[in-house]
Amino acid sequence: MSQQVPITITTDNKVMSIAWNRPDKKNALTQDMYGAVADALNAADADNGIRVVLITGTKDCFTAGNDLAGFLNNSVGDEAAPVSQFMKAIASFKKPIVAAVNGPAIGIGTTMLLHFDIVVAADSTVFSMPFTNLGLCPEAASSFLLPRLAGYQRAAELILLGEKFDAQQAKECGIINQIASADEYLPVAWEIANKLAAKPPTSLRVSKALLKGQQAEVVEECMQAEGELFTQLVQGPEAREAIAAAMERREPDFSKF
Ligand code: COA
Repeated sequence: MSQQVPITITTDNKVMSIAWNRPDKKNALTQDMYGAVADALNAADADNGIRVVLITGTKDCFTAGNDLAGFLNNSVGDEAAPVSQFMKAIASFKKPIVAAVNGPAIGIGTTMLLHFDIVVAADSTVFSMPFTNLGLCPEAASSFLLPRLAGYQRAAELILLGEKFDAQQAKECGIINQIASADEYLPVAWEIANKLAAKPPTSLRVSKALLKGQQAEVVEECMQAEGELFTQLVQGPEAREAIAAAMERREPDFSKF
């Protein structure tokens, strides 16, 4: 378990559970949190005792996405940054990842799901990819993965408008597998994780590699291209205005751009 980074990591019956655990900030993700989870995933991939990873949040929240102050501190974008290491780790993880999602699942809180294998969401989950609202662009290869899953028009609607959507819409878009009640989403996800953990591990890894195989290279290239554009945008005036407005809880003014 990490000592100061607000992540809870436990292992039970060959399932490693990783929980974002910064509830006072809606589990907004800092570079430390990305780094700790990237390290945990890399260790889990190399550990024969771990068969499956389950990723979740806290009682009322999956994650409100990247920490807004972190955007302003320029701590995103370059390839060595922990967020990039996290995105690489989820894209290349060889064993099954199950997610249990509830409450806000914003920004990377939605786009990380596109890399997971089975996602169970509480019926109250609120998803959004508000990149354009923040003067940013898609990340985590979502500009490639989402149109493939949801079709171009639905992907364009979700990315360009950046509005909230519910679990039913997420299911229709193929972003999640199942919807359960607020009481059930976590036990359902655990049941799936335990089922997977009991299966022959090599067979699971080979099957996942075959499912992901043809897109792995494109996903990596896409993340790199997105990362370069994201880095430019996050330092630009539109993002500065949008992020400052979000933090100051006021409407942004894009009329001058
Ligand atoms: N980064 C940093 N802090 C965040 C955050 C984020 N992404 N999301 C929420 N927080 C903080 C709030 O600033 C607040 O902190 P405070 O109590 O010190 O003021 C605390 O978490 C609770 O958030 P609050 O907005 O009061 O809760 P809410 O239930 O009304 O709304 C959200 C929850 C998640 C809908 C809302 O906080 C939100 O929209 N956050 C921004 C999400 C975002 O744009 N993420 C970036 C995606 S690219």
